[in-house]
Amino acid sequence: DDFEAHRVGTVRLQPGNWFFTTPFINYADQVYDFKLKPSDVVVVTYPKCGTTWTQEIVWTILKNRNLDNPKASIPINARCPFIEFDFLMNHHGLPIFEPGQEIYDGFHSMYPDRNPDDGIFLQLAELAEDPRVIKSHLPLSLLPPSLLDTSKVLYIARNPRDVTISYHHHSRLIRNHNYTGNLDSFVDHMINDRLMFSPYWEHIKEGWNKRNHPNMLFCFYEDMKADPKKEIDRIAKFINVDLTETQLDNIVSFTSFDAMKNRTEVVSWKKDASTETYFNNEVFQNDGGFFRKGQVNDWKSKLSEEQIQKLEEWSKKNCEDFDDDFKYKK
Ligand code: A3P
Repeated sequence: DDFEAHRVGTVRLQPGNWFFTTPFINYADQVYDFKLKPSDVVVVTYPKCGTTWTQEIVWTILKNRNLDNPKASIPINARCPFIEFDFLMNHHGLPIFEPGQEIYDGFHSMYPDRNPDDGIFLQLAELAEDPRVIKSHLPLSLLPPSLLDTSKVLYIARNPRDVTISYHHHSRLIRNHNYTGNLDSFVDHMINDRLMFSPYWEHIKEGWNKRNHPNMLFCFYEDMKADPKKEIDRIAKFINVDLTETQLDNIVSFTSFDAMKNRTEVVSWKKDASTETYFNNEVFQNDGGFFRKGQVNDWKSKLSEEQIQKLEEWSKKNCEDFDDDFKYKK
């Protein structure tokens, strides 16, 4: 009841017990059957782990290393399509997938021969310029089975305590999630896997278990924050791009939190979309927008002792399956 989005009904997909709203059923096969190319770079994350940041890093490494590509001003999710976004946007509130609405009309003017009703973001992913940068919050097991043998995958993980704070903010901020519960309930939703793309631990475990695959680079948000230059260099090498020192510095500054926040607040289709279309204005004004803080350990000032305790127990229980070199294993 805390989520507007859940009113449409929810399902659990096995194995993994993945939590989705029911419209995902109509898209699952299409995403699973999506045809990948060897040049694709797929950014896979549980929500709020630094997806947008990584999308921008990868796109800039591939297509804008001298910071002179005018397409950089196109909103990130149009440059790096969010492959399962159709289902996320299909189930509530905003009628953005009808003629007259921005995403529908935007897609139609970009690809007049394509039918937006066949899935806008699936087709955006299909039609994106090579090398394509594709975003997904789906766990590896729900993505095409050939993924790792075909394309490069970047998996980004983030401390679950910071993810909880960031996801709570996101769920209140974005109008079509319209979360009306408090942080206490949100922590319960997190640890009971009642959030879209949960279970969090299972999601990360699938990525972690593939970390030594030659086509997988497993990154931690905290490492990216601690030394962005080093991590961006690692990402560039992984996707086989040689960068000069100047280019590397360009990318570090272009993808910094402040630079990204200043370029666009709305991570949307339309660069000048009004924040009101997407955001609950009160949350936006009081607690920040999509680019909220971009910090490590913000949870320390936000979670109560009891909430910390709950997340601690949940983490401890779930970390048993991870090797000792896993960052969130205490
Ligand atoms: P906070 O809510 O903690 O600020 P995602 O893109 O996966 O939805 O993740 C969003 C989180 O990444 C938000 O975290 C956001 O502020 C942060 N973020 C976005 N761009 C960033 C950047 N360039 N550097 C660091 N953090 C960034």
